[in-house]
Amino acid sequence: MTSFSLPKWFDAHMHARQEGLIAPIVKSQMDMGCYAILAMPNTKPPVSKVHESDGGDGWSIEKYRAMIRDAGFKGHLYTPLYLTKGTTVKMIEDGAKSGMLNTIKYYPPHGTTNADFGIPMADFMASDLPRAMADNGVILNIHGEEHGLCAEHYFDRKTNAEEIFYTETMPKLRDTHPNLKIVCEHITTKVACDFVQGGGDVTGATVTPQHLLYTVGTLIQGLKYHLFCLPVVKFDEDRDALRKAVTDPNNKRIFAGTDSAAHTVKATDCGCAAGCFTGYIAPQLYAQAFEEAGVDLSNAATQEVFKNFLCTNGPDYYGLERSNDSFTLTKQPQAVEKIGTSEGDITPLPLGLGLETIPWSIKL
Ligand code: DOR
Ligand code: ZN
Repeated sequence: MTSFSLPKWFDAHMHARQEGLIAPIVKSQMDMGCYAILAMPNTKPPVSKVHESDGGDGWSIEKYRAMIRDAGFKGHLYTPLYLTKGTTVKMIEDGAKSGMLNTIKYYPPHGTTNADFGIPMADFMASDLPRAMADNGVILNIHGEEHGLCAEHYFDRKTNAEEIFYTETMPKLRDTHPNLKIVCEHITTKVACDFVQGGGDVTGATVTPQHLLYTVGTLIQGLKYHLFCLPVVKFDEDRDALRKAVTDPNNKRIFAGTDSAAHTVKATDCGCAAGCFTGYIAPQLYAQAFEEAGVDLSNAATQEVFKNFLCTNGPDYYGLERSNDSFTLTKQPQAVEKIGTSEGDITPLPLGLGLETIPWSIKL
């Protein structure tokens, strides 16, 4: 039976949420061996200022960090600032100096869950903010989808919102700010993969378990709404490109970021909440994806490639010390169960697809 040890890992993209969800979610992250997390700022209200003493609406990074710690998170915590029309150069300069601001998250306006405060990329690019970020070593986390497209362009057989963004918008940002560190979050297409791979050392990317495991066919066949997330899962050749990128022995800049995003109600009266929850089983799902990509994880060389993707590329990109603690991944089936919370149950993705066991398990 294949079993191997890995250093504890950094989930470079997750949603810790708030109120009754935050403690069970934080626990689920620690239960899957995370020594570090990056908790996204699309809370209600958004995390749109750095310090509590800064004026204006919204939560501060300071407050949200304290909430996550109070909910039981032990480990390193990144909490990006939500880029809104209220974000200023002074916030970036002061925030970076104080050590409280390390990263800023770009959301396409109205493009995903709680993205209503996002500003158009054109406005961001026309401002002094990217320069201030580059000068102060603040990383930009990008949700890379073009906003405001009509349905035909949003998702078409030939193009979609992510491809348009990475073809028309991102090259301008990259060229204008060559020193700005940018993480292309949850990339889903070959076009985005190519952009990241050609983007030099400053460009990183996260990839989720669901985008490595599934295609839009899985989503449509039976309308599996637990698989509905944004950006939506794509086509076979996109998944192939992602699989090739993460299993490349030379990969140093593409890393694990689950985008685990809990919703207690997925199917609503007139739509579906976007987000897949993979909160306590992500290393197992990533291992499954490596195998489905044709990688035999029973040998030391491929285990090293897996380790780079899951455990070391992310910390190295962020300048975070790697963990000295470890956990064990074993090719032994594990049952997947719902997580009960005071706000209702959270259904992990594979269970939402009718899969009650997964092929890998972990031991801390
Ligand atoms: O599917 C998603 N869910 N994509 C996002 O960008 C946000 C996330 C959420 O917060 O639910
Ligand atoms: Zn996310």
